[in-house]
Amino acid sequence: MLTLGCMTTTSTPVRASVQSTDARHATEWWRHAVIYQVYPRSFADGNGDGTGDLAGARARLPYLERLGVDAVWFTPWYVSPLADGGYDVADYRAIDPRFGTLEEAEAFIREALARGIRTIVDVVPNHVSEQHPWFRAALAARPGSPERARFWFHPGKGPGGAEMPTRWVSDFQGSTWTRTTDPDGTPGEWYLHLFSAEQPDLNWDHPDVRREHEEILRFWFDRGAAGIRIDSAALLFKDPALPEVPQRPGPGEHPHVDRDELHDVYRSWRAIADSYADPRVLVGEVWLPDVERFTRFLRPDEMHTAFNFDFMARPWDPADLRESIATTLAAHAPVGATPTWVLSNHDVTRPVTRYGRADSSFAFARKRFGVPTDLALGTRRARAAALLVAALPGALYVYQGDELGLPEVEDLPRGVIEDPMHFRSGGVDPGRDGCRVPIPWTRAGSSFGFGPDGAAAPWLPQPAAWRDLAVDAQEADPASMLRLYRDLLRLRRDLPELADGELTWLDDAPADVVAFRRGAGLTCLVNLGAAPVPLPDGEVLLASGPLTDDHTVPTDTAVWTRS
Ligand code: NOJ
Repeated sequence: MLTLGCMTTTSTPVRASVQSTDARHATEWWRHAVIYQVYPRSFADGNGDGTGDLAGARARLPYLERLGVDAVWFTPWYVSPLADGGYDVADYRAIDPRFGTLEEAEAFIREALARGIRTIVDVVPNHVSEQHPWFRAALAARPGSPERARFWFHPGKGPGGAEMPTRWVSDFQGSTWTRTTDPDGTPGEWYLHLFSAEQPDLNWDHPDVRREHEEILRFWFDRGAAGIRIDSAALLFKDPALPEVPQRPGPGEHPHVDRDELHDVYRSWRAIADSYADPRVLVGEVWLPDVERFTRFLRPDEMHTAFNFDFMARPWDPADLRESIATTLAAHAPVGATPTWVLSNHDVTRPVTRYGRADSSFAFARKRFGVPTDLALGTRRARAAALLVAALPGALYVYQGDELGLPEVEDLPRGVIEDPMHFRSGGVDPGRDGCRVPIPWTRAGSSFGFGPDGAAAPWLPQPAAWRDLAVDAQEADPASMLRLYRDLLRLRRDLPELADGELTWLDDAPADVVAFRRGAGLTCLVNLGAAPVPLPDGEVLLASGPLTDDHTVPTDTAVWTRS
C-alpha cells in the first residue's frame, strides 16, 4: 500500500541485537545480504529498441559481481501492457517479449548464480492486468458467473446502480471501482481495483486464486529463483460486506488493509519455500504504520523479511533516524526476524534529491513539481546514508542507479510520462518516472551506453548531465559514488562485526550524531549537525567524504572506524 505512517509504538532500547552467531544464521544468506533492485525496463537495453531487457541485464552481470551484491530483485518482467510499469501482469509464467524470453530469464538466473548472485522475482498477487485471461473471461461472462467470482464484481448502489459500491480511495488517488458495460450496451456491474482501472483486484476468498499463486511460486522456484518479492502484500483480502473505511480502524478492522486472513496465505507460501533443498525466501512489500502488526508478517513461519519503509521515509534528522533504527531493531527481535534497510526503490524520490531538500522525509501524497533542491547537499548526505545503512544489522537493498548517485529527473517532458500516479492526480503529482530513467553506462554513445550507440532512444530521456555520472566516468574517479559503494560493500562483506556483531549505541555521542558500535570495535558515526565532531577512536576504514586533518568528522559525513 502506498500510504505511510511512522512506526513509533515501541520504546527505544539502548542496546539491541538482532543477529545471532548460531550456525543457522550462517546458512541463511538473506539475513546479511545486499540485494540490488533491477527495474528491467531501465537497466540495460541489449537489443537497441529503447527498452531495457534481459540481454542487457545478462551483459551487465560482471558489473553486479564487481559491485559486490548477493542477489538481484527484478521488478516484474512478465507479459504486461505496462499500464503500471509491469505491475499489471497478463501472464505470470511468461516474459514480456520487450524484455526477452523465458529461456533468457532462466539463463540470467543460471549465469548470475555462477557468479554468486541469486535472483528474486516479483510476484503480484493482489491484482492482475485487465488483459489477463481470467479478467477477459470475467468481462465476457454474466453477473454471478464463476468467471466473475475470481474478482470483485458488484452491482452499484442507488437508482440504476449508478453509484459505486464503496467510497474506498485508490492508492493511486481517485476511486477504486470502474463500471462495466453489458453486451447490449447498458451499464453493468462495477469491479474493484485498489490501483488503476487496468489492475482489477483478485478475490482471495476464491480457491482458484490461492491455487494459482501457489503454482506460480513453484513455477519460478523450480526455475531457480531464490525467492519472491511480494507486491502489495498487506492488501489481498477484502471484507466481503464491503463497508466504508472507518475513521480510525482498529487492528484488523480495515476493510482492505492488513486483514487477519493474510497470514494463512503467507504460512502456506512459507511451507512451499521451505520445501526446497535450498529454501526460497519471501520478501514482503508491507506498508503498515503499526509496527506490531508489521512484524506479525515476519513470524518464523511467515515471510523472511519485509521492506523497512519507516526508515526510508524518515527525514535527515539524527533523532528521527535513531528512533527509526531503534524501533526497527526492537520490533524485529521478538520474532527473530531480520530487518531490512532501504534508501529508495522504483516508487520513491531518489535519495540525492530527497536529502537535498528542506523537507527530506518521503510521503507519496506530498510529491510535487518544482521543489527547491540542493543536489550537492543531497549527494553528500546520500553518501553518508549509504555508510549508515550498510553498517546496520540486517539485509540491505540498493536500487539501481543509487550507487551512481543519480538524481530524480524532475523535468521530464509531460508528454513522455507514463506513470498512472501522475495522471490520476490530474497532473499535480509528478509520478514515479523520475526515478526510472534509464541508467548511463558510458560517457560516449547516444544513450550513454544504455543501448547500442545510434539505436532507438531510451523510453525516457536521460539528462545531458548524466554523461558525468556514467559508470565508466565514475570508475575512473576514486571520489565517485560508485567507488564508495564498491568499497563499502566489499568491507561489509569482509568485516565479521557487520555480519553478526551486536549493535550498541554510543550514548556519549553528541545529540546531532548517529553513532553505534558493531561487535567489539567497529564504530559507525554519522554527523548530521552543523559543527564538526571528534573522530571515533581507531583506524578509519571508510569515510563518506573528506575528513579534516584535525581529527574531526565534518557535517553530513559518516565514518567507519575500527579499534
Ligand atoms: C507496489 C509497487 O512497488 C508499485 O510500483 C506498484 O504500482 C504497486 N505496488 C501496485 O502493484
